[in-house]
Amino acid sequence: MLQDKITQYTAEINAFSTDKADELEQFRIRFLGTKGIIKDIFEEFKAVSPEEKRSLGKVLNEFKQLAEAKYQSLKEHSDGTEVAADSGLDLTLPGEGFDVGTRHPLALVRKEIIGIFERLGFVVAEGPEIEDDWHNFSALNFPEEHPARDMQDTFFIKKGGEKGDIALRTHTSSVQVRMMEAGKPPFRAIMPGRVYRNEAISARAHCFFHQVEGLYVDENVSFADLKQTLFYFVQELYGEGTKVRFRPSYFPFTEPSAEMDISCTICKGDGCQMCKHSGWVEILGCGMVDPNVLENCGIDSKRYSGFAFGMGIERIANLKFEIRDLRLFSENDVRFLKQYKSALI
Ligand code: DAH
Repeated sequence: MLQDKITQYTAEINAFSTDKADELEQFRIRFLGTKGIIKDIFEEFKAVSPEEKRSLGKVLNEFKQLAEAKYQSLKEHSDGTEVAADSGLDLTLPGEGFDVGTRHPLALVRKEIIGIFERLGFVVAEGPEIEDDWHNFSALNFPEEHPARDMQDTFFIKKGGEKGDIALRTHTSSVQVRMMEAGKPPFRAIMPGRVYRNEAISARAHCFFHQVEGLYVDENVSFADLKQTLFYFVQELYGEGTKVRFRPSYFPFTEPSAEMDISCTICKGDGCQMCKHSGWVEILGCGMVDPNVLENCGIDSKRYSGFAFGMGIERIANLKFEIRDLRLFSENDVRFLKQYKSALI
């Protein structure tokens, strides 16, 4: 009889108690599971006579509620540590964190530089690291066999070729040429990338490093535009109040050329080791694009003028983070890299 069964199971449920999660789970499966007792009883209930249904219906519902209430109240009191003790797992222990990677300091600085120029409407352009003589030197107004080429110690890869010797690019200025050859003015781009020079590796020199090149070509571009753009860049990068000064210099591809110094970011101009007690540190080379360069790239130098600049990312990072030894940037020592976790992200 259904009534008898219910009476028997009700007694069983009332008598049941546990604080062990696995025993409670057995209880749940036995009574409340999809193939459990309650499911069976409800199946049987379908077959009873209508009179019986009337009286049994209520009993049946109460029985179901009793089983559910028992399960809920025991569940609240089984706190999980019991399972832990059984399985050798302590759920009260804090979880193990996992390491998220950190950005490389050079990547952080490159990202920041790009961000500033993008706000001024510059686009990002890239070019190949293996370059021909034309793009790395000749188009940039380095005369053949001229000592100016010795300014940069080149890793040559192959002699000859349609556009001259093949080499690892010594600067990102080559990307200027590629950009101007491929398009029409106006140009407003920054060009980040890796460059190579044949130098012995030390704390102060490396055989590869990173640069960001800038190029702005349009009608009526003047030296004042160059100064204002770079002034804005420095205020954004190192904070308002950072001073700039321009010293006349020489680069084959710009005329006039200058080097730009900023007031020392470490000592704020008072004099320290970083600025060799001068209060100033050099951060980039710049100038008005030499008309010969424009013509070499098929641009009418009577109509268009432009400015260009180039900076070393390691140098900028050095001034931001006071990283004194260039070798640290490429050794990938995790203890070094981890320090830049939160900076500038
Ligand atoms: N290419 C130069 C170097 O590697 C840096 C440079 C100087 C780039 C002046 C320029 C510039 O665009 O106008 O030393």
